[in-house]
Amino acid sequence: MPDDRFTYDSLRRALGQQPFRFYERVTSTQDLARDWALSDPDLPSGALVIAEEQTAGRGRQGRTWHTPPGAALALSMILRPHLVPDQLPRMIMLGSVAVAATLSPLLGDAVALKWPNDVLIRGRKVCGILSEATWEGDRMGPIVLGIGINVRVDFAGTELESRATSLETELGQPVDRHTLLANLVGHLLNWSQRVQDPMLVEVWRGWLKTLGRRVTVYPQLDGSAAFEGLAEAVDDGGALIVRLDSGEQRRVIAADVALVETPDP
Ligand code: BTN
Repeated sequence: MPDDRFTYDSLRRALGQQPFRFYERVTSTQDLARDWALSDPDLPSGALVIAEEQTAGRGRQGRTWHTPPGAALALSMILRPHLVPDQLPRMIMLGSVAVAATLSPLLGDAVALKWPNDVLIRGRKVCGILSEATWEGDRMGPIVLGIGINVRVDFAGTELESRATSLETELGQPVDRHTLLANLVGHLLNWSQRVQDPMLVEVWRGWLKTLGRRVTVYPQLDGSAAFEGLAEAVDDGGALIVRLDSGEQRRVIAADVALVETPDP
């Protein structure tokens, strides 16, 4: 395993002038980033919280996210985009295209996005993205965009083995996490200037492997009310448009989606 341990100095070298806070061990970088953002109204958009290890990392829909020390990239970026609440899905688009742009020079078209927020390599999840807005009354405050990339997390023998993977497993060679971080932050900052740009939606759409595939949609965490159909499109609001066999079209805003495996002809 390469010695690419994070220290404050090594991160300062990788991130240049970008404001950041680094912790060896936190509950969740999301919580520290939210507290930082709310306690400092002058903190510029793009400030980062980075941790080597999370003891209570969060995923979507109340799931936990595993960040063992030295094996992943776990960061939360504080953003102050000019968005109305209906446009919040753009934050997931921003995170997704930034991660895809970071990984694709290493892995080419093995990288794909799965609606709504997963980054896959050869069909297995390598990265998850979590966007959490803060609210001051009914006014939206800063947004905390969390990104977790499995760099060398070992899933062998775990129940996640068939669904999750790590960058080094897929590449078959070591990855330097500082380089990865610097590239990712560059793409995030670049796209964060363009959250209103229609190109963001177009580029995101281009990476989505969900489109044109049969999917099972799970609107509820307990698996109830699931339905199957063709994932026809995503609209500009980030919703997935699914055509049921009955011809009915449904607009799915929040759900888990599984691709239906179709046997080769
Ligand atoms: C998901 O796929 O459900 C989203 C996972 C998001 C994980 C990242 S790791 C950094 C940040 N801190 C957290 O607690 N979660 C996000």
